Amino acid sequence: MILLLSLALAADPAAGKAVFEANCTACHGIAGDGKGPAAMALKVKPADFTQATWWSTRTDTDVAASIRSGKPGTPMSAFTQLTDVQLSNTVAYLRSLAKPAP
Ligand code: HEC
Repeated sequence: MILLLSLALAADPAAGKAVFEANCTACHGIAGDGKGPAAMALKVKPADFTQATWWSTRTDTDVAASIRSGKPGTPMSAFTQLTDVQLSNTVAYLRSLAKPAP
């Protein structure tokens, strides 16, 4: 029971990848580097999630909150339809894209 519970709570980056590819890559890019096909037309460009420095200023909770609520003043809309599990999976996947700091 305890084992099952901890498995259910552990974030699953592979499941997060599917959420990201279905909802986010037009802007954020398939590599998460902010160079999606729609990004060119945006005034505020999506950040580069592959940079460790970007992650150094944010917690997973911060990132999940921005996805859930959107980022006011930017084209980043609120993804209220994602469940808490989908959110934490997506954040785990995005964090896995970050290259180690040089
Ligand atoms: C219409 C284009 C677009 C789509 C679709 C989109 N984003 Fe964004 N996103 C942006 C822009 C523009 C920003 C603002 C610049 C920045 O901070 O990266 C942003 C910001 C963010 C941030 C940074 C918030 C912060 O705290 O600085 C995260 C994380 C993020 N998006 C994740 C996602 C995820 C996950 C999805 C899919 C569920 C998604 N975005 C879909 C354009 C988009």
